[in-house]
Amino acid sequence: YRNLRVALLGAGSVGSQVARLLLEQGDEFASRVGARLELVGIAVRDVDAPRDVDLPRELFTTDASSLILGADIVVELMGGVEPARGYVLEALNSGADVITANKALLATHGPELFEAAEQVGAQLYYEAAVAGAIPIIRPLRDSLAGDTVTRILGIVNGTTNFILDRMDTHGETLADALAIATARGYAEADPTADIGGYDAAQKAAILASLAFHTTVPLERVYREGITAVTREQVDAAREAGAVIKLLAICERLTDPETGEEGVSARVYPALISREHPLAAVRGAHNAVFVQAAAAGDLMFYGAGAGGVETASAVLGDVVSAARRHVVGGPGVAESTHAGLPVLDIGRVVTRY
Ligand code: HSE
Repeated sequence: YRNLRVALLGAGSVGSQVARLLLEQGDEFASRVGARLELVGIAVRDVDAPRDVDLPRELFTTDASSLILGADIVVELMGGVEPARGYVLEALNSGADVITANKALLATHGPELFEAAEQVGAQLYYEAAVAGAIPIIRPLRDSLAGDTVTRILGIVNGTTNFILDRMDTHGETLADALAIATARGYAEADPTADIGGYDAAQKAAILASLAFHTTVPLERVYREGITAVTREQVDAAREAGAVIKLLAICERLTDPETGEEGVSARVYPALISREHPLAAVRGAHNAVFVQAAAAGDLMFYGAGAGGVETASAVLGDVVSAARRHVVGGPGVAESTHAGLPVLDIGRVVTRY
């Protein structure tokens, strides 16, 4: 196998899991890709900061620029707009493919980054930026590229879904439920980003831009958080056969006042019938309900936050980028080598 050099920027809850899995599953990835993925280093602000995972100390550096230089694939998991933006541009300008989970960066500087990638023929992957482990970027970009998406209803913030769910099922206050969400590691470093709807708005900007083949700037996303939602409203919704969810709503529509056709992206607490599939999304889970002209209704469901869960989406992007290096184009997913054997176990489990 030839070597592909992977540089990691950031070793927080997602980054440390990505590093661990790259090191532990090297042989498996090599056989899937046809090249060895060599983790050449991890750039961090503080080499001695405590981490979720024990990783070889010699991998750590504070010099991100040197690490980027000479990498084939750069994985940006630092979060925040700067200095992440500068490093992503450095990486793209050097011709490396970049994987990022940085929703704030994409929602504010997406066009600049995509253009930088295009200039050098590099790729920018961001499956992990929206709804954690849930595959939603590729379905919108690839699988639905031949359809017309008309509406997206997304539960794309785990923290607020967890809080609203606890208010509904445990009668807890927003403050109590937020404390639990923070303790479980769902919330952003500054939970205002969650409860104020800013995190969901960033994700709405990304989803709407992708689904409608346009640019929806973050400042054009209407946003309300959940801070004004009371237990009385939650109870009243339940009595009416509904539930309150913080929704990211992205739609093609006609402006009711001007008659102009366009797209709209909005985030606010909305009432959903208990019969709707989104009402079944409990706890910190996320779901994205997509309506398309030909496909009809689709729903994508799963873990929207969490280190190892989000690492799954990041590593999928790493494998995609690596395959592109090996075969000179994306799309080779089918394995031709003999893998695991098929077992004949018949009808064993009858109920799930
Ligand atoms: N704070 C975010 C959430 C993390 O609660 O969904 C994932 O973006």
